[in-house]
Amino acid sequence: MRVEDPKLKAELSDLGVDIRSGACLAELTSLGIGGTTNLLRITKHESIPELILLLERHQIPYKFLGGGSNLLIGDGELPWLILQLAKPDPEIVIEGNLAHVDAAADLGRTVTFCAKHDLGGMEGLIGVPGTIGGALRMNAGAYGMQIGSYVREAKLYRAAKRSIEILRGTQISFEYRHTSFAPDDMMLAVTLELPSKPFKEILQGIRICNEKRRSSQPLGQKSAGCIFKNPPGASAGRMIDELGLKGLSVGDAKVSDRHANFFVNAGEASAKDMLTLIADVRGRVENAFGVKLEHEVVVWDA
Ligand code: EPU
Repeated sequence: MRVEDPKLKAELSDLGVDIRSGACLAELTSLGIGGTTNLLRITKHESIPELILLLERHQIPYKFLGGGSNLLIGDGELPWLILQLAKPDPEIVIEGNLAHVDAAADLGRTVTFCAKHDLGGMEGLIGVPGTIGGALRMNAGAYGMQIGSYVREAKLYRAAKRSIEILRGTQISFEYRHTSFAPDDMMLAVTLELPSKPFKEILQGIRICNEKRRSSQPLGQKSAGCIFKNPPGASAGRMIDELGLKGLSVGDAKVSDRHANFFVNAGEASAKDMLTLIADVRGRVENAFGVKLEHEVVVWDA
C-alpha cells in the first residue's frame, strides 16, 4: 500500500507524520519476516485522532506496529499502511515509585532504567524483546510476573471513541497474555507503580532471569518468542517436544532445537513457510493430545 496523493502527503506531514516509502517489515520484526508497505511514523500523540480520520476518509487500511517482536507478517506488497510511534526524548520519567513510560520505549531498557532508580518488580521481563506498548497490550509476563500488576495508568487511543483516553490500571483487565483493550486501540504511554528495591538486589534478579532464559530459549536466533499460548495446566513447548518435533522445518521456518514452542527463521523463511509449519504442528498436537493450541504470536496475514 502506497501513499501517492501529494495533497494527502502534505496533510500527513502537517500532522507531524513522517512517511517511509517501501519499508521492509522483515527488518522491523524479530522474526525477520514480512513484506513491504509505507511506514508512517507518528511524532505527536495528539495528532492520532485526526490522522485516523484522514486515513479513513481516504479509505486507506492501516495497522499499528509496536516493537514487532510478537508478530508474524505476510509476504509481498502489503494491503495496509503501518503506523508506528516515533521514540520521544526522554522515553521514561521517574517520579518517586512511578515510572512514566512512552509506549515506544524498549522494554528491556525500561527494566534496567527503573532498576537504576531502585525500582524493581519487572526483572522477569528482562530479555523479552519489544516495546512497553506491546508488553502492555499483551500483558507480557515471565517467571511468575506480568506487567499488568504494575500498571497504574495507561494512555491510549481508544478506537471506539476516536479519542485519546487515560485509564486507571483497575479499569483494565489483565489476564494471561490478554488484556481488555480492543484490537484497534493504540497504546501510547503507561505509568507503572513499582516497588522500591536496592539496585544490587534487582540486578541479582535480572541475572537469574537472564541465565534461565539463555539456558532454555534460542536467544540469538530470529523468532517471535512462543508461538502458542500454554493451555491451562499444560506446556505447549513440552507437548511439541514430546512429539519429537524439534528441528521440524518448512523451508527456513524451523521448530527450535532449544525450545519447542519457539519457531525460528533460520535464513530466508517466508510467512507462508512459517504459517504452514504452525498449522502442521498445531494439527499434530491436536491429533496426539486432543488440545487445540491457540496462537500467542499475532498474525497479520496479507
Ligand atoms: N519444555 C520441554 N521442552 C521444550 C520446552 C519446554 O520439555 O522444548 C518443558 C520445560 O522443561 C518445562 C516446561 O516445559 O518443564 C515449561 O517450559 P518453560 O519454563 O520454558 O516455560 P514455557 O511455559 O514454555 C513460558 C512462557 C514464556 C516465558 C517462560 C518463562 C508462554 C507461552 N510461554 O514458557 O514466554 O518466557 O514461560 O516464564 O506462556 C512468550 O510469551 O513468548 C514466552 C516465550
